[in-house]
Order: sequence, then C-alpha cells, then structure tokens
Amino acid sequence: MSSFGLFEASIVFFCFLISYYFLIKKPFDYFKIKKTLQSYPWNWPILGMFPGLVVRLNRIYDGVEILENYNMTFPFKGPWFAGMDMLVTVDPANVHYIMSSNFSNYIKGPAFQEVFEVFGNGLLNSDSERTNNLRKCYQAMLHDPRFQRFTIFATRNKLKDELLPLLDHFAKEGTVVDLQDVFRRFTFDAALVTLGVPDPRSLSVQMANDELFKAVEDVEVAMVYRHLIPRFMWKLQNRMGLGQEKKLTEADATFGRLCGKYVSDKRDEIRNEVTNEEVVDLLTFFIKFELLDPIDDKLLRDVFVGFILAFRDTIASTLTWFFWLLSEKPHVVTKIHHEIQENLPRSGSSKERPSYDPAELDKLVYLHGALCESMRLYPPVPFQRRSAIKQDVLPSGHKVDANSTIMIFVYVMGKMRAVWGEDALEFKPERWVSATGGIRHEPAYKFFAFNAGPRACLGKNMAMTQLKTVVVEILQNYDVEVVKGQKTEPFSGLILHMKHGLRVKFNKRC
Ligand code: HEM
Repeated sequence: MSSFGLFEASIVFFCFLISYYFLIKKPFDYFKIKKTLQSYPWNWPILGMFPGLVVRLNRIYDGVEILENYNMTFPFKGPWFAGMDMLVTVDPANVHYIMSSNFSNYIKGPAFQEVFEVFGNGLLNSDSERTNNLRKCYQAMLHDPRFQRFTIFATRNKLKDELLPLLDHFAKEGTVVDLQDVFRRFTFDAALVTLGVPDPRSLSVQMANDELFKAVEDVEVAMVYRHLIPRFMWKLQNRMGLGQEKKLTEADATFGRLCGKYVSDKRDEIRNEVTNEEVVDLLTFFIKFELLDPIDDKLLRDVFVGFILAFRDTIASTLTWFFWLLSEKPHVVTKIHHEIQENLPRSGSSKERPSYDPAELDKLVYLHGALCESMRLYPPVPFQRRSAIKQDVLPSGHKVDANSTIMIFVYVMGKMRAVWGEDALEFKPERWVSATGGIRHEPAYKFFAFNAGPRACLGKNMAMTQLKTVVVEILQNYDVEVVKGQKTEPFSGLILHMKHGLRVKFNKRC
C-alpha cells in the first residue's frame, strides 16, 4: 500500500504546526505538552481532537484503552465546522440497536456515499430502495448451484494450477516472499475469474501489477485519506487534481473503461451462446437472468467494482493475519493438522487435488474456530460507519443528533475485556468450540467481522469455504516459516492490511 503523497504530507504537517502553535501559547512545560499531544481524547479549542489524531495517525488502532476508559462509547470531536465529529462505539448493545432493532434510523448516509462515490450505486454504498433488489440478486446468485459450482471450480483451478506451483517454486528456491502480496494477488485473480472476465494472472513469479490491480490499490488509499482530513481539503484537492485525489480520478476512469469492455464482451458471449449452461459466473448471472430492471452497464460497473473490493482484500487480509497468528502458536497448527487428517484423508498427489465439498470442510470445527478467532482479533473490515436520520438515544445512554455520524470500531470491539473476558487479547480457537465439540455461535453484533442485521455480509459462507480450502491446502503441503524480527502492525486503512506485509518462507512437507 503506497504512502501519502507530498500534498497530504503538507496538510498533515500544516495541521501539526497549528496544533503546536496553540500549545506553545500556553506556559511552556515540555512534559505537559508531550503528554497532551499523546492523549488522544484531548479536546482543543477550534481544533478539537484533531491534533491527537494527527500525532497518532499511524496508531489509530491503539484505541482499546481509551474505549475501555470511556465504557465502550467515546465522542470524538473534530475541528470546528470540519464535519469530523462522531460517536465511536464498541458496545454490543449499541451495535445491535443500530444494526438491527432501530436499523431504519441508521443509514450509510450522504456523507458516506460522497466519500465512497467511486462505488456508485453498488451495494457497499447504497441505501436506496434499489439496495433490496440488489441484495436479492446477490442472494439468488449465491444460492444458485450453477454459480456455486463455478466458484468451487475457479478456486480449485487457481489453487492447483497457480498458487501451489508458485509456492513449490518458492520452497525449492528458498525465496522469502511477502505472504500478504501473494494472497492479494491470489484473491484478485480469483475475484476476476468469479466475475467472468479474463484472468489477469497477477499471481506469477514476476508478480506484475496489472492496471486494474493498481487502480484498486489507489482507491483504497484515497478512501482512507478522505476519512482522515476535513472534507473541504480533499474536495479542493479533487478539484485541483492533486495527490491521492488525482490517482482516485484515474482509477475511476480505469474502472469505467475496463468494465465497459468486459460487460460488452460478456453481452456478446451471451448473444452468441458461448456460455456454458452448467456453470455461471457473476456477470453472466446478472445479465442473462435479468434480475435487475433495468440492468444497465453503469450498475454492472458498480457491482463489478464492489465485488472486487468485497472479495479480494477481506479474504487476503484474513489469511495473512491467520498465518501470522499460527506462527505464534505452533500447538494450534498441530491441532489443525490432526483435525484435517481425521476428517479429510488425502488421496492422490497435490496436482490432482484440491476440491473439497463445503460440507466436508464444515467438519473442521477447530479450524473454523481458529479463523473466527483470527477475525475477532484482526477483522478485515476494521470500522463501520453509520449516519442517524433522526435524533435518538443509544442503549448506552448516549444522545445521537440527527445526521450525526457513528463509527463502530470493529477492531477494538474484538479486544474488549468487557465483551470477550479477561483473556480477550489471546488467540484461543477453543473459544469457538462448544462443550459437545460443535461450533459455538456468537451473536453477529458481538462477533461483528461480517456485519449484522439486514445489511450483513452476503458472502460469509462463500468466504469461509474459500478460507478453509486455501488454509487446508497450504498446511497440508508446507510449513510456513515467518521470518523472525519483522514488525507486524496494522495499516490504518479501510481493510486491515499488515503495514509492512508478512515475510515468510515455505518449506515443503513430506
Ligand atoms: C473474510 C471475508 C469477508 C468479510 C470479513 C466480509 C465482511 C463484510 C462486511 C463487514 C460487510 C459490510 C460492509 C458495509 O456495510 O460497509 C460486508 C458486506 C458485503 N459482503 Fe462481505 N465479507 C467477506 C467476504 C465476502 C465475499 C467473499 C463476498 C462475495 C460474495 C462478500 C459479499 C458481500 C456483499 C455483497 C456485501 C454487501 C451487503 C450489503 O450491504 O447489503 N463478502 N462484508
């Protein structure tokens, strides 16, 4: 993930100078100033808590202590008139209320849609009546056996023909690779194949960057940036065509151009009846079965972009954090190996596999628990944002004004002792196994990685199947050795990437 450009750095530096100016106007006391700058919730005149945010720009995930001190709900104040005020909550009772019981009062809202305008009218961005129709289309597709067959087939081919041979190559050469990069390429290619467009083959020894791959990266960085600075600044930057905003505009153009071509090619394929009736990719499903009325090319473009984002980084992020957590807990790896051996006996060479039935994978209760535990501590979507339509009072007693913003800090929620007990910071897959050896289910407003209520993630089952398939294949074939001494910390982004990636070596198992 690229870092901020010169323009952004100047803005941050400028804000820092202003904060400093306000500080030295006070009687000079170095330690007091330092402590004040570091104390995140300090509310300065005019600048609000913005100086603290600037100082902690790279550490916004250190919020556990603050939210514990504030009894799980904390009012953040931005600079005056900057529109950055928000109520930050990790209280499951509030989450349940916002996402389910009083769902109709909490929407993504115009401010969210403005920030995420690049997603157009796709599901990730939308509140309108059309959302329900789009959700119904997704549900129909995800339950259709032809689409399910297609995704199993696509993942199998990607694993068998590309990921495993590539990892074999790395193992043979003793190459140190960035596991996060490998997973992002794997899931990017898999997402495009699932969409039904040509495989970009970004997963290869060369690790080349296709233009769509780069466009997705640029969009993610720009979205984070829009959250961190006042609206008028990114608006101005957008109008002037500078920095991240310039890259965002270019990425948008790339999406428009490439999606336009893919959609028109797909329409030709369908017209010429080139498509196979037994397996159906996403674009074919949406176009051929005319589930949306009208299904115009612009909406298909929005679905296309949203799908890449929903699929690619969530799965890649989960896999990266998961393998890092495993490297810290070898006994968990041993238990997963036993479970795989007992439930999925191997047959044939690695070239002839892998293709597991989702029902077979469901037998892997401990692995399921380990994946949930990993997403509890490192949720791929670390924040959720909602806007209140009408004034309201949350179960925690906090007043919510009309049009105000609420931020659910999912990353911190998974680490709260008040929610998960005194051992909340520990990686314990057993937490998810019931006394009878089955999966222990936690309410979605507590284990919030997949969202909850009417807008919960639609791809949860598909994601769990993909995750288990990849993990089983890797663990059966390799010992993953994480290079010692590297720093692992989250990148302050929309998706919980590892800031410096994860350098590993693959050792082939006998
Ligand atoms: C580990 C993997 C995944 C995680 C943690 C995850 C998590 C989430 C979250 C938190 C949301 C809510 C986003 C928001 O409202 O802003 C969401 C929405 C969604 N996800 Fe997933 N997701 C994953 C994988 C997938 C996959 C593989 C698909 C593919 C079908 C998918 C499809 C969707 C869709 C269509 C929505 C929009 C639902 C709506 O807004 O009504 N997700 N996901």
